[in-house]
Amino acid sequence: MNWTGLPKPIIGLSPMADFTDSPFCRLVREYACPPLAEGEAVIFREMLAAEAIVRGNKRTLNYLAFSQAERPLVQQLFGSDPEAMAKAAQVVMDTSGPDGIDVNMGCPVYKAVSNFNGASLMREPNKAAAIVRAMKSTNSLPLSVKTRLGWSREEEIVDFAQMLEQAGVDAIEIHARTKVQGYSGKANWSAAKKAVDKVKIPVLINGDIVDPLSAQEALSQSGAKGLLIGRGALGNPWIFKRIGSVLSGQPDPGEPSLDERLKGLRRHAELQAEYYGEQGLVKLRKHFPWYFKGIPGFRRFRALAVRISTMDELDKLITVISTGTK
Ligand SMILES: Cc1cc2nc3c(=O)[nH]c(=O)nc-3n(C[C@H](O)[C@H](O)[C@H](O)COP(=O)(O)O)c2cc1C
Repeated sequence: MNWTGLPKPIIGLSPMADFTDSPFCRLVREYACPPLAEGEAVIFREMLAAEAIVRGNKRTLNYLAFSQAERPLVQQLFGSDPEAMAKAAQVVMDTSGPDGIDVNMGCPVYKAVSNFNGASLMREPNKAAAIVRAMKSTNSLPLSVKTRLGWSREEEIVDFAQMLEQAGVDAIEIHARTKVQGYSGKANWSAAKKAVDKVKIPVLINGDIVDPLSAQEALSQSGAKGLLIGRGALGNPWIFKRIGSVLSGQPDPGEPSLDERLKGLRRHAELQAEYYGEQGLVKLRKHFPWYFKGIPGFRRFRALAVRISTMDELDKLITVISTGTK
């Protein structure tokens, strides 16, 4: 993969810890392809700790696995030590061999920032640059950085993006909020424009992109070369086809019907069971609220949904929902 050579606008699945695992990424890939060109949607896998990878932590290494169907796939890493980040990138390259590596410089949670990684790297541009340079010097995979507009001010991204480009980064993804905002307020896509205009590498805009209209607005207000979709894809793998169609000048296929949504959920369950075995359906429960968002009267089925642990139980729930809501 080559960030500059990818067809524009680039459309990607944003990394989401606990959600963007192999089954969900495969599901997105299955629904994303037509009418997008094969492989056009880039899958970002959630952040993994560089230190844990370097230590050979089995659980973390297991998270690296992906199926070929998920390509092009970018593995995200987090950490604050340039040497550990470079070593971890090498392990990732030799173990799973993704199409790109991404560094998390935007995570706002206390656990990350108190360890001087995630969004706190925005306050330490020298360290951020050292991480990028160390990773670039030992790794031939394309390297991107996912960050925010700033720690507390939206203008911070302008200098930060230029610094990242000079250090050798191949692409930048900007969640259009500051660290201080967390997830509150509305993403300010236009605040990313000054940074987009100052760098030559592709910038992907992120935050609150939930349908074709918001995708068009985010791209036109930021001038970005692509976008990443996070929560808008949960329980909604169809979003890539909708956005891809509209951005390539085709009609919007529209929201999926209830039957299509239930079929998508069932396919997700099959992929979960294939990947996790018995635990697959239990692990799927956290996705239910996203699949059932907006289904009238879903509250009535919630008690049933939180107990699902087998495919038979899921099939019963699907039957109850599709008959109960008609
Ligand atoms: C449950 C959850 C987990 C997340 N995990 C990560 C992560 O591992 N790495 C990362 O860079 N961003 C992570 N994010 C942030 C998203 O990738 C994205 O930047 C943010 O949700 C804004 O985009 P959206 O409005 O399209 O969801 C996470 C967000 C959520 C909701």
